[in-house]
Amino acid sequence: MPLYIPTLAEIVQVRRLTALEKWFKIRTKDGVSFSYEPGQFVEVSVFGIGEAPISISSSPPPLNPLLTKEGIKGRSTLPSGNGTFEICVRKVGDVTTALHSLEEGAIVGLRGPFGKGFPLSQMKGCDLLFIAGGLGIVPLRSAINYVLDRRDDFSNITILYGAKTPAEILFADELFGWQQRKDIECEITVDKPDSGWAGKSGVITRLIPPLEIDAKRTYALIVGPPVMYKYVLMELGIKKIPEAQIYISLERRMKCGVGKCGHCQINSVYVCQEGPVFSYRTLKFLSEAI
Ligand SMILES: Cc1cc2nc3c(=O)[nH]c(=O)nc-3n(C[C@H](O)[C@H](O)[C@H](O)COP(=O)(O)OP(=O)(O)OC[C@H]3O[C@@H](n4cnc5c(N)ncnc54)[C@H](O)[C@@H]3O)c2cc1C
Ligand code: FES
Repeated sequence: MPLYIPTLAEIVQVRRLTALEKWFKIRTKDGVSFSYEPGQFVEVSVFGIGEAPISISSSPPPLNPLLTKEGIKGRSTLPSGNGTFEICVRKVGDVTTALHSLEEGAIVGLRGPFGKGFPLSQMKGCDLLFIAGGLGIVPLRSAINYVLDRRDDFSNITILYGAKTPAEILFADELFGWQQRKDIECEITVDKPDSGWAGKSGVITRLIPPLEIDAKRTYALIVGPPVMYKYVLMELGIKKIPEAQIYISLERRMKCGVGKCGHCQINSVYVCQEGPVFSYRTLKFLSEAI
């Protein structure tokens, strides 16, 4: 796809997830197959308003064509294929508000996919610990469903998710479905429970100490608000997970998405190209990053 010129894409499905977030299924207009890795992002434009970087939230189609919906345990949607993919957008400003006003059938501009995602193939055979705070579940959902579609390729899988309130839990149906599965562990916590909440409460870092972690064979994949990283990394340090086995996605201010404008730059690194996913070991060299 062209670097600067958006291609056309159609919004084929829209669903409200919470007061601030909407889920969109998008299909490239020319039906071009759209391949991507979990953790990559696209630049979505609303004509006349502007463009915003948004993570891809669906998982890429499995290579095995026999893997149908019936064959995928606990999945509410099929992996994306035929040029379709999913995003989840929080309404915060001009572009995201304009996106929220669009309905099924609307045409948007699309550039990408851009950036480097999670190196999941190198994690085969290992234990995976996913830690998502708030909107961080958006890119991690892509990685989680990728792994669940290939469940036998990975060992123990643990998913930790934290939201501010029960009403702000994103992809609640999927998360509660993951909690029901016997072959993975999924814990959800909210900072501020309400009277109807029967689950755990407190910050997400509290979920880490009780975990039994085999540090040498565990990869941690973390996405959340910047404030979360410091405390999560402290807890993972106590568990002795090697820094090279901790992967974090950085959502820096971005414009071009392709290493030309410098908006996302940290020292000599363009986050849009070399990230947004980095190992913690790499990030430690980019001192101001986290
Ligand atoms: C790699 C990447 C992936 C992203 N994935 C998603 C996603 O999946 N879903 C989603 O809803 N958002 C995502 N974002 C954030 C999204 O790009 C911004 O919210 C969006 O660009 C805001 O555009 P706007 O015109 O609506 O708001 P603006 O009018 O530009 O800004 C509104 C407010 O948001 C603040 N803001 C804008 N961009 C950012 C940012 N990147 N970080 C912190 N504050 C910001 C501004 O300072 C302002 O206060 C991602 C950002 C990056 C860099
Ligand atoms: S967003 Fe322009 S260089 Fe990264």
